[in-house]
Amino acid sequence: MTVTIVGSQLGDEGKGGIVDLWGDAADVVVRYQGGDNAGHTVVEGGTEYKLSLVPSGAVRGKVGVLGNGCVVNPATLFEEIDDLRERGLDPDVRVARRAHVIFPYHRVLDGIEEEAKSESDQEVGTTGRGIGPTYEDKVGRRGVRVGDLVDPERLREKLEYVVPQKRALAEDVFGVDIGEEFDVASLYEEYRRYGERLREERMTVDAGPFLADRLDAGDEVMFEGAQGTLIDVDHGNYPYVTSSNPTAGGAATGTGLGPGVVGGGEVVGIVKAYLTRVGSGPMPTELGGVVGDTPGYDEQGEGDDEELATYVREEGGEYGTVTGRPRRVGWLDLPMLRHSTRVNGFTGLAVNHVDVLAGLDEVQVGHSYDLDGEELFTVPATTERWGDCEPNFRTFDGWEDVDWSAVAETGYDAIPENAREYLGYVSDQLDVPIYAVGVGPNREESVVLEDPFE
Ligand code: GDP
Ligand code: IMO
Ligand code: MG
Repeated sequence: MTVTIVGSQLGDEGKGGIVDLWGDAADVVVRYQGGDNAGHTVVEGGTEYKLSLVPSGAVRGKVGVLGNGCVVNPATLFEEIDDLRERGLDPDVRVARRAHVIFPYHRVLDGIEEEAKSESDQEVGTTGRGIGPTYEDKVGRRGVRVGDLVDPERLREKLEYVVPQKRALAEDVFGVDIGEEFDVASLYEEYRRYGERLREERMTVDAGPFLADRLDAGDEVMFEGAQGTLIDVDHGNYPYVTSSNPTAGGAATGTGLGPGVVGGGEVVGIVKAYLTRVGSGPMPTELGGVVGDTPGYDEQGEGDDEELATYVREEGGEYGTVTGRPRRVGWLDLPMLRHSTRVNGFTGLAVNHVDVLAGLDEVQVGHSYDLDGEELFTVPATTERWGDCEPNFRTFDGWEDVDWSAVAETGYDAIPENAREYLGYVSDQLDVPIYAVGVGPNREESVVLEDPFE
């Protein structure tokens, strides 16, 4: 069977930790979209792993697959694999031949476009990893795929076609001086070598048939979504999104298995007990912002409750795994989660970071929105309308800080009563059962109610 792990909010919900939590039963862990914009954390026995491309199952020695829906920077991939090997793991990663390759010019163009947009305050706040420009080339039918890297003649041919276009875009449209990131000969040399290594280490696969065979043989497959539903290019708050489909449908198109395979398994929504965001875009329940990322924040000087936002940011260690940027902080947003539940068809939820909120007198939740005098229970389709939404809050009594490891060991009933009330409310509103509650970053610091593989 399959279990699909999906970010229900704006990314960084703790997906890596949940993949690791249930990963023991999985034989194969598959990323189906995104690239090294992701930063997934696994903490095993006090050792922390931050993974960008290698699927999080690597910490448990599981086979990892980067599906056709991913965009792969081979430099990052090999660096990460080498680093993990040095740390004593032995990652076995297979890369779809249909996946697209991120080149240095994609990263440069990502930066150039963000810079150009920033002149009119329209920047997305991307991770700068070249994700958008690479997906543009994929859809524009000029991309270079992993299968092309292992065929040097084809690689050169494709680079000779595409690189002059990129050079002209940078120089003539944006008026920027460019470097060897746009030089066909040096790109060819570097990427041909990546192709050699991929071939030598037998890393490339046709992901669809590879996974279908594993499922036929009775293997358990886990899909590891990156990013989150509200930054999905179709279902998120466009244009403040990433350029792929983190939502559950992406697990079918991004791997080559049918939607029935994904839908026939479990789809678990990963929820952070509050909200964080890196990058621009609306966030109706925002507590306190980050200059440059929060619209209007520079002028405003401070958020509604900067002190509380700072407290949660520090308690939760809310700094970007990839870029180190401070994350914007807000209260849980139920309209967002209702939207997410519909788009993904969640069969279960894992609610993380319940420990981070401990010790507060009260905890608030955006229950619905007010938009022009009308009460909304889900997210409007346009970002402008979403930005105009004012949350209607519900207030919950806070819960005390306790020995969370002991709570995880004892089980759900050991969670402080007020926190259980909060969790019950979320589950009732979404009509989805809670499968796990995260009470700390370590593998052991989760209360498990249901194992989706059982
Ligand atoms: P991902 O991108 O969804 O995998 O999440 P990140 O790894 O970017 O961010 C989640 C952060 O919170 C990491 O530092 C995790 O180790 C940590 N974390 C995950 N679950 C919990 C939890 O329940 N409580 C606390 N305190 N930290 C958690
Ligand atoms: P994980 O998998 C949180 C955000 C960026 C930016 C927008 C577009 O760790 O949850 P991109 O570089 O993808 O073109 O940036 O998306 N973003 C993430 N935010 N978690 C992530 O990944 C993210 N990956 C991209 O901050 O706002
Ligand atoms: Mg992350």
